Amino acid sequence: MTVHFIGAGPGAPDLLTLRGRDLIAASPVCLYAGSLVPEGVLAHCPPGARIVNTAPLSLAQIVQEIRTAHEQGQDVARLHSGDLSVWSAMGEQLRALREAGIPFTVTPGVPSFAAAAATLGCELTLPGMSQSVVLTRTSGRASPMPEGEALANFARTGATLAIHLSIHVLPQVVRELVPHCGADCPVAVVWRASWPDERVVRASLSTVEAALGEGIDRTALILVGRNLGADDFGHSRLYAADYDRRYRPLGAQPRFPAGTE
Ligand SMILES: C[S@@+](CC[C@H](N)C(=O)[O-])C[C@H]1O[C@@H](n2cnc3c(N)ncnc32)[C@H](O)[C@@H]1O
Repeated sequence: MTVHFIGAGPGAPDLLTLRGRDLIAASPVCLYAGSLVPEGVLAHCPPGARIVNTAPLSLAQIVQEIRTAHEQGQDVARLHSGDLSVWSAMGEQLRALREAGIPFTVTPGVPSFAAAAATLGCELTLPGMSQSVVLTRTSGRASPMPEGEALANFARTGATLAIHLSIHVLPQVVRELVPHCGADCPVAVVWRASWPDERVVRASLSTVEAALGEGIDRTALILVGRNLGADDFGHSRLYAADYDRRYRPLGAQPRFPAGTE
């Protein structure tokens, strides 16, 4: 018996890995984390599967579901939205499973920041503009931010910011970022990226609050950075015609002569 933690992706049911789909189809028990896991993903469960929404359960109750499946020798597909490596609460479940000696696997999923960037049709790391992406959030009732991880600190680096779980405090986000990024810094809010009703608001830090409109709440990502929609960035050297590299040796004395791979 194994518990398979599976990243269910950002919303569109076909943004699920083939491995994730096959594990869901092979598991007689499916525990899924609330409304962010789409029904189209749950449709891969085998007929007669026990399918439980864990949103109203405590950690102890979730672990009890897993223990029961373990006693019955039934594999469990444990689904969380997006990818499991960020804000999935997988860590505390893995700790409990390690303590109980219950085996598990982890299958990654498409994270919401990647889905939002795809919706925007943009690369978050552009040559000469920004080469880092900070995945972050603001303090929530359940999770205060550790000291030092203030938005202002990340903003000072010039990295592109992907701010999760924070659309409800947008005015505070703007207030903290303006002194470091500038009021004209581009912002994109992507609501329910990859869902059929997804929405996009492009603005600047000074205009985003007014531009947001009604109905954009909870499942929204705030992307902030100079490279959003920028056209005046440099070229990557990797594809430059005169760049001598392993897969395209150039000149009389190439750095990586053919046949040295
Ligand atoms: C509990 S976190 C889950 C993050 C998830 N594990 C991931 O990989 O993106 C929920 C937050 O992720 C963001 N989010 C999740 N799905 C999203 C989507 N489809 N579109 C925009 N933001 C999304 C929102 O900021 C939301 O408040």
